[in-house]
Amino acid sequence: MNKKKAVYPGSFDPLTNGHIDIIKRASDMYDEVTVALLVNTSKKGLLSFEERLEILKIETASFTNVKVDFFGGLLVEYCREKDIKVIIRGLRAVSDYEYEMQIAQMNRNLNKNVETIFLMTNTKYSFLSSSVVKEVAKFGGDISEIVPKSVDDKLKQVFGEG
Ligand code: PNS
Repeated sequence: MNKKKAVYPGSFDPLTNGHIDIIKRASDMYDEVTVALLVNTSKKGLLSFEERLEILKIETASFTNVKVDFFGGLLVEYCREKDIKVIIRGLRAVSDYEYEMQIAQMNRNLNKNVETIFLMTNTKYSFLSSSVVKEVAKFGGDISEIVPKSVDDKLKQVFGEG
């Protein structure tokens, strides 16, 4: 039987506990989930792709059906190459909806074989974003409850102990 495959794409700069929650839930729904690090041209990166990939690999190692990958092109192209038909995205609030709808429709327009499935972010993490994490870490705030340890350590290294 064909494996039910899905991709969870993002820029993961950095990975947060909100992302991990979505990865876990997606891994319960699909046979194989690929967490794909892609380029978001509208965001200026803090961590290098190598650093983000290393963090993703460490933090998903305990999920037996989750893989990590990197792709420099269009998400729909990646889906075509890997024969993936489901894209997972997390939705935090109404404010995410407009952007996510536009991207989902654009992706579907580019590749009729893909569907985007939205998972509602756990309310525990609905305030959380990679940008907020970076801002708090930059000014020495405590992010240990909202990111995995490898990210906490990495941002301390980047910004200093505060
Ligand atoms: O975590 P993010 O920054 O919200 O993730 C956005 C991402 C990286 C998934 C999106 O920018 C993306 O898919 N980039 C690859 C290029 C692409 O396919 N763009 C969508 C069509 S406009």
